[in-house]
Amino acid sequence: MNAEKTVKSVAPESRSPVPVAIVGASGYSGEELVRLLLTHPHAELVAVTSRQYAGQSLAQVFPRFASHPRAQTLRFTEPNADLLARQAQVVFLALPHGVAAEFAVPLLAQGCQVIDLSADFRLRSAAVYEEFYGHPHPAPELLAQAVYGLPELYREPLREARLIAAPGCYPTSILLPVVPLLRAGLIKPAGIIADSLSGVSGAGRKAEADYLFVECNESLRPYGVPKHRHLSEIEQELSLAAGTPVVIQFTPHLAPVNRGILTTLYLAPTKHFQQAAEASELGDQVVACYRAAYGKEPFVRLLAGKSLPDTKNVVGTNLIEIAWRLDPRTGRLIVMSAEDNLVKGASGQAIQCFNVRCGWPETAGLL
Ligand SMILES: NC(=O)c1ccc[n+]([C@@H]2O[C@H](COP(=O)([O-])OP(=O)(O)OC[C@H]3O[C@@H](n4cnc5c(N)ncnc54)[C@H](OP(=O)(O)O)[C@@H]3O)[C@@H](O)[C@H]2O)c1
Repeated sequence: MNAEKTVKSVAPESRSPVPVAIVGASGYSGEELVRLLLTHPHAELVAVTSRQYAGQSLAQVFPRFASHPRAQTLRFTEPNADLLARQAQVVFLALPHGVAAEFAVPLLAQGCQVIDLSADFRLRSAAVYEEFYGHPHPAPELLAQAVYGLPELYREPLREARLIAAPGCYPTSILLPVVPLLRAGLIKPAGIIADSLSGVSGAGRKAEADYLFVECNESLRPYGVPKHRHLSEIEQELSLAAGTPVVIQFTPHLAPVNRGILTTLYLAPTKHFQQAAEASELGDQVVACYRAAYGKEPFVRLLAGKSLPDTKNVVGTNLIEIAWRLDPRTGRLIVMSAEDNLVKGASGQAIQCFNVRCGWPETAGLL
């Protein structure tokens, strides 16, 4: 089948809801997609898949949605790409990496638009994918057409995308604060350090000893040191912003909360600022840089005054909070961000991309 000829377009002026499906709807990011799409003003949720819950209704599996009329009638089905392509125009993939590509290939071939939450289409290089994910890329021929789903950075290409690769949760928390500074030449591309803490839902809804309540509760621990998989897309996007290869130090930590990511970045400004006047001038440039990049963005909250990012301000929302401080003692610029890993870090961002792609207000279903 010729994919180019059969692609189903979503007219911006269209008033009828777009039929959408979620593959992997029983996982944490899938459940969050269900929450957002059930109430989205321009979408009709027509299919949700899960192998373990096939046959059960949304209301049975997720009682919190039971009061929504669709939750009584919509039942989980076994994932089947051919059936989904007949039912839906836009398909969200909330699947493990590797598996997502197996669904993206036939769905795209049958004219669907695909918004993938996994890592399968985030990287431009199949070799880098293999290096970080430990197996050959399952569909390297699709990498060139995928658009990285960070609307604040890729809004224009997203308007035409057939395959959208929503970024990882940690990458969102690092790229949004750092990319404008690199593009403006305010920080050096070398020596970037990122420390992140993530809630346990970042690991997905799976039964593994490391993520049992007793193992995580009252506990903080690093993991994935020194080469976490998300480094591949973080360094890809930072290198594009800097115009030179960027390698960063990144240490993720597991925090004993359900959701939320807090990231602290240690950056080297290109200018010295030991004198008060120098610090003041650099501070003005940082403010101007962030305001130019995000002053009109609905989901980026730039904090002023004494406020610092806090996950409790963003959990359950599609917002990312960003604040910064100059430290004249160390000569570093400290930038901090907070987001919900399941919303701005995953499903909310995917819906934001969906809105951009379909020409609706970017905030539709997300406020
Ligand atoms: N959690 C986060 O904070 C987060 C943030 C950003 C991106 N992501 C990415 O989003 C994707 C989903 O993450 P998650 O945390 O939501 O995972 P999860 O909670 O483990 O859920 C995975 C989902 O995929 C389904 N599934 C698993 N293997 C499958 C297979 N072989 N065939 C068909 N369905 C399969 C599962 O349902 P059944 O087993 O019932 O079929 C389940 O619905 C991952 O690629 C992850 O990296 C996650």
